[in-house]
Amino acid sequence: MELDAACREWHERWMQRMNYHCPGRAHYLQLIAHTIAARAQGQPVKLLDLGCGSGAFCSAALQQIPSCEIVAVDASAKSLLVGKTLWGQERIRWIESDLLSAELFASLPARSFDVVFTGWTLHEIGSDELPALYRNCFELLKPGGQLFNFDFMLRGDPEEQRYLNEITRADIPQDWRAFDDSFVAEFLPGYVAPSSSRPNRGQHAVELHRQALLAAGFSAVEERFRHLHQSLLVATK
Ligand SMILES: C[S@@+](CC[C@H](N)C(=O)[O-])C[C@H]1O[C@@H](n2cnc3c(N)ncnc32)[C@H](O)[C@@H]1O
Repeated sequence: MELDAACREWHERWMQRMNYHCPGRAHYLQLIAHTIAARAQGQPVKLLDLGCGSGAFCSAALQQIPSCEIVAVDASAKSLLVGKTLWGQERIRWIESDLLSAELFASLPARSFDVVFTGWTLHEIGSDELPALYRNCFELLKPGGQLFNFDFMLRGDPEEQRYLNEITRADIPQDWRAFDDSFVAEFLPGYVAPSSSRPNRGQHAVELHRQALLAAGFSAVEERFRHLHQSLLVATK
């Protein structure tokens, strides 16, 4: 298979797989990008996507925000290869890095971003690591800039618990692993997946995120919407 076609299939399978965890996710990504575009009122938008994966949000942002420029960061060279191949490098700068690396934040200019977006990623970060990460994001945002975090977050309500029980039994496609292995063997031989074994990772409470964001200096933190066991938090500098 050609690289282009293989990347398209990888991304489509990834989107299907993620849809089990967040039904309607493609729609939510478009909605968030649309919200950012509406607030920008035609002005250029500089956007940072933390844990960009293969660029699900980058693609929505390119469609919805005509004048956006994106810095997209992920630890996985595989996801970045897919993203670069599908969405290009003209308006997106792809960076392979750990989100907790001090060098990453030192390399990006302070107060230069209008928006930081992160989707379905910060549950992979330890609860004790969130405050420093949020402080770094705060430093990178312009005054009035906003951080959007859409992720699995717990509130402890019965509806959430019922859904979590159902999804652990859900029929997630099993052929994903075989396809992913053949993609790596063909296009990234020797690829080693980044380790995800951080202490205290998991689905953090909405309140834990809110407190860490306020402690980082954000003046307002709003839970814009809740979908099953996921929340969109928007924090304004
Ligand atoms: C569930 S995926 C979501 C990807 C993408 N945001 C999306 O919605 O399709 C989580 C992503 O976060 C990345 N990630 C997790 N922990 C990371 C870390 N400490 N540093 C950089 N990337 C990380 C993973 O490589 C993966 O691409």
